[in-house]
Amino acid sequence: MKTVLWATLTANGNYAQSTPENPPKQEALDDFAAHAKAAGNFIVGRRTFEQMQAPGRVSQEELANADGPFAGMDIVVISNSIHDIPGVTVVRSPQEALNYLLHKGHQTALISGGADIHNSFLNQGLVDEVIFNVAPVLEGKGLNLLIDQNNYGYKQVQLLDCKPLGGEVVQLRYAIDR
Ligand SMILES: NC(=O)c1ccc[n+]([C@@H]2O[C@H](COP(=O)([O-])OP(=O)(O)OC[C@H]3O[C@@H](n4cnc5c(N)ncnc54)[C@H](OP(=O)(O)O)[C@@H]3O)[C@@H](O)[C@H]2O)c1
Repeated sequence: MKTVLWATLTANGNYAQSTPENPPKQEALDDFAAHAKAAGNFIVGRRTFEQMQAPGRVSQEELANADGPFAGMDIVVISNSIHDIPGVTVVRSPQEALNYLLHKGHQTALISGGADIHNSFLNQGLVDEVIFNVAPVLEGKGLNLLIDQNNYGYKQVQLLDCKPLGGEVVQLRYAIDR
């Protein structure tokens, strides 16, 4: 099973945070929905999952709605504090999330954030491909994606694709050798 990390970056390379002043671009959200539909799943951290369910975002009903954008999708929430959320699968670790999706027969696992989850997968060397959507915004102090949170180091990656998504968002896709 291939693991794909999908993330939005700011134009100055930060890990983009979704806030009322900096909402995600529709083009990036549409791209996420397309990748999630193609994979048939996505993995998300407990805090991002809660953020997705904030007023005006995706409701519990939409997640369960047979006609909605996430219909029939395996949604996996990683949490150590919550044990059960209706309509989704809750697991305790990145590896447990991958084991679950592998067992369900998925070809691709889509890792959709947030920062802790993305960094956990990167730190544990569990990512085959990264998709970065670069949004047209600069940010001050922010979050970062790191392959190692304690040490300096580099990992060469191979550029697979680079394309504009519209709305001034540019998508970069890289393969990571494991
Ligand atoms: N740039 C992007 O593409 C993107 C995508 C999504 C979200 N975001 C942004 O990211 C931010 C939220 O990220 P976040 O780091 O605060 O939260 P998060 O990664 O969504 O969720 C963190 C929670 O996930 C669980 N968790 C994380 N790592 C774990 C591990 N290794 N093992 C077990 N459980 C683990 C813990 O849940 P418990 O506390 O329940 O144990 C932890 O509190 C927001 O600003 C959001 O807008 C950005």
